[in-house]
Amino acid sequence: SYYTEEYRPQFHFTPEKNWMNDPNGLVYHNGKYHLFYQYNPNGTTWGYMSWGHAVSTDLVHWKHLPIALECEVDSNGNVLEMFFSGSAVVDANNTSGFAIPLGKDRRGKVIYSQPMVAIYTSNYPTAHTQSNGVVIQEGQQSQSIAFSNDDGLTWTQYEGNPVIESPPSEYADQYNQFRDPFVFWHSPSSKWIMVASLAMKQILLIYSSDNLKNWALESQFGPYNARFGQWECPSLFPLYVDGNTAAEKWVILMGINPGGVITGSGTQTIIGSFNGTTFVADPTDVTDPTQIPAGATVFQDFESTSSTFEELGWTATGDFAGLGPQQASTVDVWNIMGYLGKGVLTTYLFGDVAKGTITSPKFTVTKKYISFLIAGGYYPYNPATAGTGDDNQVSIGLVVGGQVVHSQTGTDTESLVWRSWNVAGWVGKEAYLVVTDVNTGPFAHLHVDEIVFSDTPKDEANWNDLGPDYYAAATYNGLPTSERIVIGWMNNWAYAQNIPTTPWRSAMSVPRKLALKTINNKVRVVQQPVSSLSSLYTSTLYSRKFTALQSGYSKIYVPSPYNARMKVTLRFTRGTGTKFGVVLRSNATNSQETVIGYDFLGQNVFVDRFKAGDNSFVDWEPNPYPGYFIATMPTKSTDAITLTILLDWSSVEVFDGLGQIAITSQIFPLDDSAQVKLFSEGGTTRSVSVSINGMKSAW
Ligand code: FRU
Repeated sequence: SYYTEEYRPQFHFTPEKNWMNDPNGLVYHNGKYHLFYQYNPNGTTWGYMSWGHAVSTDLVHWKHLPIALECEVDSNGNVLEMFFSGSAVVDANNTSGFAIPLGKDRRGKVIYSQPMVAIYTSNYPTAHTQSNGVVIQEGQQSQSIAFSNDDGLTWTQYEGNPVIESPPSEYADQYNQFRDPFVFWHSPSSKWIMVASLAMKQILLIYSSDNLKNWALESQFGPYNARFGQWECPSLFPLYVDGNTAAEKWVILMGINPGGVITGSGTQTIIGSFNGTTFVADPTDVTDPTQIPAGATVFQDFESTSSTFEELGWTATGDFAGLGPQQASTVDVWNIMGYLGKGVLTTYLFGDVAKGTITSPKFTVTKKYISFLIAGGYYPYNPATAGTGDDNQVSIGLVVGGQVVHSQTGTDTESLVWRSWNVAGWVGKEAYLVVTDVNTGPFAHLHVDEIVFSDTPKDEANWNDLGPDYYAAATYNGLPTSERIVIGWMNNWAYAQNIPTTPWRSAMSVPRKLALKTINNKVRVVQQPVSSLSSLYTSTLYSRKFTALQSGYSKIYVPSPYNARMKVTLRFTRGTGTKFGVVLRSNATNSQETVIGYDFLGQNVFVDRFKAGDNSFVDWEPNPYPGYFIATMPTKSTDAITLTILLDWSSVEVFDGLGQIAITSQIFPLDDSAQVKLFSEGGTTRSVSVSINGMKSAW
């Protein structure tokens, strides 16, 4: 293994050096899995976006290849074109005409290549006129294509680019927020289908084509379910329900940022049907973001009062002091408040005002969820500086025991959405809410109305991963429906550019296989790591069974280096205890530890990274990085529960036995935080079996 830097994953994909974000152009062809990815050839933060390239024959061992599509910069150093996210297909029937003759077969018939075609977003930072005469506006995002006749090694950009210059005329103003085309061959209609995103509108556009060059708009979908922030990197594909090839459903998979499950980036799925032109969501997969959860008690309803923050018992400090909700200081603020209704708890900042905090009265957490209606935003959105401290963000956070346990950053101005925070882990504890301006800048605001406590969540989305670090997930073209493989970017825009790794920044998740499974009468998207990962397992390093594991912690010896990269399998049944799990990467004093387990009372799988290691790379408040991440998974007291945990130096990925939940989280522990402990809390856990394999390096 030649990767030896601190935090360097050993069985996850990372670029040798520099910045990486979304997986792109995932396509299986001639025995090879291609992985293209958003890549900055010039640095360890976002910029000069190009398509990096790697291949694998088993989804485990990767070979780095030269950059496939490289950012275009003019002689003055202006970036003319960046290659944003997209997909790749193999045009086996040469519908595009990009094939080249390779020779003749024995009967004299010409044999043609099968071109690989990449469909991506051309992001044009600088206004210019292209050599083909097309006039490009500053900031424009259009869809373009390029082809390769040597299995993706070298690429030619189509001379007619872009193939979709702008969104439909009713969305003309979205010319700079139109991106991330996912294309696939739809055999029933013998057409190429594209789904692309109008990011700020939370709308997906579906197009069709005969030749990958001319595209016709067929339909649009959204906003829907988790209608937060920007919709990015959408895809659409079929899966079989319970392995039944006669029961096919279609799934939309997409990224949401900000507004993800914890904060920042999240991944949502929607199950439905697709007839070649239109996607229709299953009625069982719809959520109504305006419904207040049943049995909710209202903590504060700002809409029905015209009180100032102070009169409501909140304390306002910094630039927010004395700014009651009705005390708008500018006409613009008043307009926004008129749009949202009077009396909404609002923080706002114009110009360079704004360093301030509003803190709620203290309260005791009595129910499992805190939900609130939230709207807000920051503008202009600048992905180049997002999360770096230079953009505008307003956040609401929940503080328990002096730590922010949940936080949410203001979303798009036009969205007014419900959020629910699962606070089951803190019932009985004292808490307060804090609204903070994260940064100064030209404009940012956040509105909160009707904070309620309830025992059921606002059913806001079907999150595909309940952790903070799984985004822009994309699936492979070129494989059968029963082999739908997905890879996600194991990072979060809320802090992605600050994570303390060098000389590379960001890893991909392990490839996972997707399926649909009926669980408790509901069809759900399930996932498990690909089976080829088992080629990296060492022999079993630890294996033990306990009829009843007593309350407390017991150390497990795992030899180095496998104490930092391993697969842990836990099987257990509820006893008298309240929690069961493992502590990974802990040090002798327990000042560092990553705690993973199941909460029998809260009925959830959890990952606690509050003390996982370095948190200091985020230097703004509330720090969106530390956290306690929960995936609700109801069980019966007699159930044998299975959890599989993949640890790879600086990340954990947790899956349950059915694949119904996944939690992906980065961690940055010190090298010598390498102890492993098993624990049962508050009593016994029954029928425990633990098995640990080391993970060999894939590099
Ligand atoms: C998602 C994203 C995409 C865009 C790409 C740019 O992470 O913002 O929408 O195409 O990254 O690098």
